[in-house]
Amino acid sequence: MSLKKIDKNKIPQHIAVIMDGNGRWAKKRGMKREKGHRAGRKSVKKIVESCIELGIKNLTLYAFSTENWNRPKLEIDFLMQLLFLSLKDELKSLNKNNIRFETIGNLGMLPKKISTYLQKVKNETRKNSKLTLTLALSYGSRSEIVDVVREISDKVKNNIISSKNIDETVINNHLYTRNLPDVDLLIRTSGEKRISNFLLWQIAYSELYFTKKLWPDFRKKDLYRAIISYQNRERRFGKTSEQIK
Ligand code: FPP
Repeated sequence: MSLKKIDKNKIPQHIAVIMDGNGRWAKKRGMKREKGHRAGRKSVKKIVESCIELGIKNLTLYAFSTENWNRPKLEIDFLMQLLFLSLKDELKSLNKNNIRFETIGNLGMLPKKISTYLQKVKNETRKNSKLTLTLALSYGSRSEIVDVVREISDKVKNNIISSKNIDETVINNHLYTRNLPDVDLLIRTSGEKRISNFLLWQIAYSELYFTKKLWPDFRKKDLYRAIISYQNRERRFGKTSEQIK
């Protein structure tokens, strides 16, 4: 799958990825699940590099869902440690490559050491502008929507907003993703065809791309495939084909 087939004038602005299949990748090799997560980290690096090369402005990765808290404690601890070490290793490289680091999710649930470090990485990269890399951590879309409703209700109660002025823009501006454009392309690896509580509002008009590749095997050429598939689709946003042309 060649880079040449990608139309540089139709690059998606925002790609979101459900990185699935680390556990199965390890199992197939008779390894512990942790090895799969470690291998998944390498895919993250490759895909970030590729986004920079292609001029993609926003990449959002589902790294840990609210439901993932139900996994065995040992696996959770491993994932948290892997995240911490990855951020420590990559902080310099984020700045060198002009990458702004962001998070969405309930960071209050994360161990203090991790949330403090996340804040530091966000602060130290906040002026970067080539790519915004957002990690969804302890993230669940329904819980995000609950937070939005709470925040807007408080504003209505305190006469900051009138309920008749609540519209889609107001809701957008209260989502964790308020500073990001809508998702153009959502990719899920490992053959599962589910959204799993990821960015439900934000993917209303996204193109969905499912691949059987397990996340640790996902490489640049797989991203090219997804982008080419996206570029060959007609995004009508509810209009007719003629109106688009
Ligand atoms: C899904 O595979 C993956 C996760 C729950 C964690 C994602 C973590 C990484 C890719 C590691 C590195 C990330 C960063 C940002 C440093 P799974 O465990 O659900 O796989 P399975 O469905 O095959 O069991």
